[in-house]
Amino acid sequence: MVFHPLFVHLHIAFLLMAFLAMWYWLLKGLSSSVFEDRIYQFARACTWLGVVFVALSMAVGVRDGFAGRYAVWGGQQGGWLIVKASLASTLLIVYGFFLHLSSKKPRYLQEEPRLLAWCMLTQTAGMAIVVAITAIGTMLVYYPWSLPRFHM
Ligand code: HEM
Repeated sequence: MVFHPLFVHLHIAFLLMAFLAMWYWLLKGLSSSVFEDRIYQFARACTWLGVVFVALSMAVGVRDGFAGRYAVWGGQQGGWLIVKASLASTLLIVYGFFLHLSSKKPRYLQEEPRLLAWCMLTQTAGMAIVVAITAIGTMLVYYPWSLPRFHM
């Protein structure tokens, strides 16, 4: 029995909500000059929840890599698991950086344009990594022939 799929969809949803909320907060603020703090705080809360579930799904993913239906450590497509684990670790660093930066200005982030720029950059980079890992995971399970062999 594998458990990883149960977790991955949760943090994909939370991190997508955080990304959309941050960009909605910024674009709405720039167009109306009203930056709604509760949208920014919602994005921060979703990022926290996303990070917790990324850590949980990494732990379960490592375990499932031994249960191996499609990819196993030290074997069939094992190299892709190493790629996923490296990207997932980068994900924790990027979102950790967002949470650290945004904690310096938990309200009225628009007053610090430099900090705001870094927060938008980390949210966007994080989402790009989520898309990349999700694509690899989905191809591993549903389109195994579409990924080059990477046994390790
Ligand atoms: C240490 C990090 C990770 C490891 C070792 C890992 C390992 C795995 C393994 C072994 C599978 C196949 C499970 C099966 O046999 O059904 C899988 C599937 C998948 N993984 Fe990961 N994973 C990791 C992180 C992530 C992250 C961070 C995401 C998303 C951002 C992700 C998204 C997926 C998806 C979408 C699937 C297909 C799930 C499905 O069946 O619908 N994984 N992963």
